Amino acid sequence: MRTPVIAGNWKMNTTVTEAVALVKAMRAELSKVSNVEKVLCPPFVSLAPVKELIKDSSIKLGAQDLYFTEKGAYTGEISPVMVADLCELVIIGHSERRQYFNETSKVVNKKVAAALEVGLKPILCVGEKLAENEAGKTEEVVSKQLKSSLADISNLDGLIIAYEPVWAIGTGRAATGEQTNETIAFIRRNISGLYDDKVAQEIRILYGGSVTAANAAGFMVQPEIDGALVGGASLKAAEFLNIVIQTSAMG
Ligand code: 13P
Repeated sequence: MRTPVIAGNWKMNTTVTEAVALVKAMRAELSKVSNVEKVLCPPFVSLAPVKELIKDSSIKLGAQDLYFTEKGAYTGEISPVMVADLCELVIIGHSERRQYFNETSKVVNKKVAAALEVGLKPILCVGEKLAENEAGKTEEVVSKQLKSSLADISNLDGLIIAYEPVWAIGTGRAATGEQTNETIAFIRRNISGLYDDKVAQEIRILYGGSVTAANAAGFMVQPEIDGALVGGASLKAAEFLNIVIQTSAMG
């Protein structure tokens, strides 16, 4: 049995004050929900204060990115060791990083390897763009991203995959549960090919893209979908909590 994961990717939202208020608004209820791994991914500057607020709870902390070098003259970057000092998880290869910061799968691969090396669990994001989807290239794009992002990585050690079709992110146009279930089943077969069936059966694969409290159940009910990476809706305490509770009720 795979424990579902609901992770909130706050992206570049919330000041420290706002982050603290958001966590305070949901932590008590959120930490009570069992059978779901609950992860908050605030901006870097809020990681330490959020960690302090959730320290004796079942809520986990994740970062939104890292750089792949341990330390040194890389002004503005955050190293894997720094992230591991505060977090258990880290989002890697989000499509916004690929799109706005020219992150290639080669860079993503280095980041995944660096994260695993310091014991962080990567949440590796993959997903096709609208034109690729319309051209029927979803499987081709996703399998290429998986192969290059995971190149030379022999042990996935708790790595989570988030399938986030780019056209569904922040658009209010979520994929359907059935469609997503099929793509995630494809990703699982792909992992089986790259590793083995045991790894494929154990790995958690999430959906991300306009998940809300209103559509979450349609994803969670699908057998291949092991949770969600939630953007906009994770910035509203009651809505995020609602998604987590619905996921727990499906278990
Ligand atoms: P939205 O839920 O805002 O569409 O964002 C999804 C996402 O990119 C999560 O990483």
